[in-house]
Amino acid sequence: MNAEVQPGEPWTAATLDLPTAQTPRPGAELSIVVPTFNERDNVVELVLRISRVLGSSPWEIVFVDDDSPDGTADLVRALAGKNSRVRCLQRIGRRGLSSACIEGMLSSSAPYLAVIDGDLQHDEQLLPRMLEILKTEEVDIVVGSRYAPGGEIGDWDAKRARISRIASRLSRVLVPAELCDPMSGFFMIRRDVLQSAAHDLSAIGFKILADLFASSKGRLRFRELPYRFRNRHAGESKLDSVTAWDYFMLLIDKMTGHWVPVRFVAFCIVGALGVAVHFASLTLITRLLGASFIEGQAAATLSAMTFNFALNNVLTYRDRQLRGWRWLRGWGTFVLACSVGGFANLGAAKAVYDMHHGWAMAALTGVLVGAVWNYAVTTLWTWRRPRGARGA
Ligand code: GDD
Ligand code: MN
Repeated sequence: MNAEVQPGEPWTAATLDLPTAQTPRPGAELSIVVPTFNERDNVVELVLRISRVLGSSPWEIVFVDDDSPDGTADLVRALAGKNSRVRCLQRIGRRGLSSACIEGMLSSSAPYLAVIDGDLQHDEQLLPRMLEILKTEEVDIVVGSRYAPGGEIGDWDAKRARISRIASRLSRVLVPAELCDPMSGFFMIRRDVLQSAAHDLSAIGFKILADLFASSKGRLRFRELPYRFRNRHAGESKLDSVTAWDYFMLLIDKMTGHWVPVRFVAFCIVGALGVAVHFASLTLITRLLGASFIEGQAAATLSAMTFNFALNNVLTYRDRQLRGWRWLRGWGTFVLACSVGGFANLGAAKAVYDMHHGWAMAALTGVLVGAVWNYAVTTLWTWRRPRGARGA
């Protein structure tokens, strides 16, 4: 470099004045983002197939791996060492298909962005056509579609096909009715479309496409290309029944316009269920086991807390789920935090009651103060992020 570039001073490529041998190559035109969790046995085949269809055009592939125990990220880094088109973004202490896709897209600078599953179920041969359409037509997003005329869902059993159809129908709240496959995890968009939606994305669960449609400023102009959904190459699906809950959370987040943290909503729903568990256990313990009220109340409180902890762990904090001994430690901190929350509840309720606002108002204030306390403390303590991922 010749001279220092002062802050605020304009600079050009010439300012860098690099020796010819170091002249930088232009960046990729197309970034293909692949979310992965335990896809080690599919990675090489996917890179080979994509290389075959995209050839020597300027493309790159970004794997966003959530610290897969099978070592997917190590394999991707090994490939990246051999081929600079391959990149690895490893996230620690995080889970989530949508957020992985979003962060992968934001990690690249390419003007065109594609998202494709890592298990070879999507037809990578559509990629050149998708790019062509975005470049030549007035289209914001091209969606690979199983339900557009000519598309197929492959060898799905009747149950899976039914669930997928129901989910598609529910998504009408978020996406235009004419989109045949709103659940598709396979699409390509222009960079400016992503950037205009980026700050409003909910990034919850796995409905990245519905999230994009719902978060974009204007109405997205889309095209669908039919393809046949293939069977998984290796490994197994990561989507389970809890993904339905994530979807529900995405809807709440979109409907409340981010005003209430959606995690807090989930925490309160779980808390309300905990009240039912409390009454059921109280009845059981006092009536059937003949315990005294106070013994029953103590046991019911502990049961409800344990129930709340376990359910929050799989639903509310699914992306930071505690397992093994961490589960036990988490349970301990949860019970402690909520016990203090109980006192906060009593204190607040008493204060309002003393101001003669009536018992209902006093009770409600107590419950709300307790809930906010429990939520805040357990978020920071029980489900705090692991060391490597703080601040993320
Ligand atoms: N980084 C990351 N984090 N990747 C994930 C996660 C996660 O928490 N969960 C799943 N993935 C990756 C998988 O490794 C795979 O590459 C891709 O996301 C899709 O996951 P699958 O587990 O194969 O999902 P599927 O085949 O059951 O679901 C597909 O069809 C749905 C429609 O029925 C996906 O394409 C969904 O996006 C789609 O909505
Ligand atoms: Mn799959």
